[in-house]
Amino acid sequence: MDLQELMGLAREAAKNAYAPYSGFHVGAAILTEDGNVHVGCNVENASYGLGICAERNAAAAMALADPEGRAMKTVAVASPNAAPCFPCGACRQVLREFGCKEIVVESPSGVRSYTMEEMLPHSFGPEVL
Ligand code: THU
Repeated sequence: MDLQELMGLAREAAKNAYAPYSGFHVGAAILTEDGNVHVGCNVENASYGLGICAERNAAAAMALADPEGRAMKTVAVASPNAAPCFPCGACRQVLREFGCKEIVVESPSGVRSYTMEEMLPHSFGPEVL
């Protein structure tokens, strides 16, 4: 699975976004260290604060589907509404929890890759506890 393919799956997931309030559609695709892929889209709610981002829905899908393989390698994020679409701060922390190494986003010039340390420097994680 290369980064282009992973981004393609994120783009597909964004098509299922439920975003009637913001109109901002996001898809995320997680590649685990085991080579499995889990996707998510954002799902909003009439009680606005209950909306959840694509990245956290993908993380929940991974945690449910793959209890023995919860190690994230790469997460791709795509939105037809913004390129690049960077993960929000809350999602960066959730991706960090599962050891995500690399985050990829789309820019007009192609896929761009960032390390977790670039995205969330000096982060707090499970090994501290
Ligand atoms: N959103 C995501 O799903 N992921 C991001 O990385 C940024 C924002 C969603 C949350 C909300 O449904 C909409 O985009 C606008 O903030």
